Amino acid sequence: MNIFTKKNELKTYLNSLSKSKKIGFVPTMGALHQGHLSLLSESLKNNDLTVLSIFVNPTQFNNSEDLEKYPRTLEKDIDLVKKLSKDILIFSPSIEEIYEGNTTSNSYHYDGLENQMEGKQRPGHFDGVGTILTKLFTIIQPYQAYFGEKDFQQLQIVKKLVKNYNIPVIINGCPIHRETNGLAMSSRNERLSKEAREEAAIIFKILNEARIFFQNHSSTETITLVENEFSKHSNFKLEYFEIADEETLSPCITKEDNKEYRGFIAVFIEDIRLIDNISMK
Ligand code: PAF
Repeated sequence: MNIFTKKNELKTYLNSLSKSKKIGFVPTMGALHQGHLSLLSESLKNNDLTVLSIFVNPTQFNNSEDLEKYPRTLEKDIDLVKKLSKDILIFSPSIEEIYEGNTTSNSYHYDGLENQMEGKQRPGHFDGVGTILTKLFTIIQPYQAYFGEKDFQQLQIVKKLVKNYNIPVIINGCPIHRETNGLAMSSRNERLSKEAREEAAIIFKILNEARIFFQNHSSTETITLVENEFSKHSNFKLEYFEIADEETLSPCITKEDNKEYRGFIAVFIEDIRLIDNISMK
């Protein structure tokens, strides 16, 4: 398996391949879990070669402690990938290699998607995501790329990024992978104590209750239900629960039949911020 840390070496290698080879791309920040492996499997099925990037991107963190404590498990990640397939190439650059002494974001417009939920709570986050992905797409020039629906807002934003900035890559969304207790898989789960990881099962349980309740109630009533449920669990701090249009991500005020809605949540436990979402169908 090839591991590259230098962008020019990666570019030279990819350029040496036949132009007819389809390159699939799975961008990650490492601490790989089953959700990432499912993105890799999807890419392996549909492309000749898969590039996996492992890079904890500083410009998308609005909280320095979160950046510092983000799990970094490169050796373990490499072992997992080795077991999965020989057709995966890893790109694991340093911050200097990517940002060349200027670790800042460019600003991006995503037709307002960036002003909702995560964009409101994490100022600058989606500029950081746009910056790193534009750099990685330019280096790798993939035919298609894969993103998990756990970060549903990010997925919609990446679709907008490639459309608005004419980046020639197909964006694929892949379903959320959950632990057996329902907790959405996330690299940040690594930071939870065993007890918190078990208790965090209530997030998906409450999302499901909300989905069922929403069939016969308004958006406001459903939000109140979720807030009340979380108020019974003092070790959880609900940051937001919103029901939004899947396309525009704008909040659902009155239900419209022709729209698909999704419930989005951000919640803290042990000071670790977890996000999840569910289709409200
Ligand atoms: O979802 C992530 O892990 C990151 O936001 C991404 C897409 C790899 C960009 O750094």
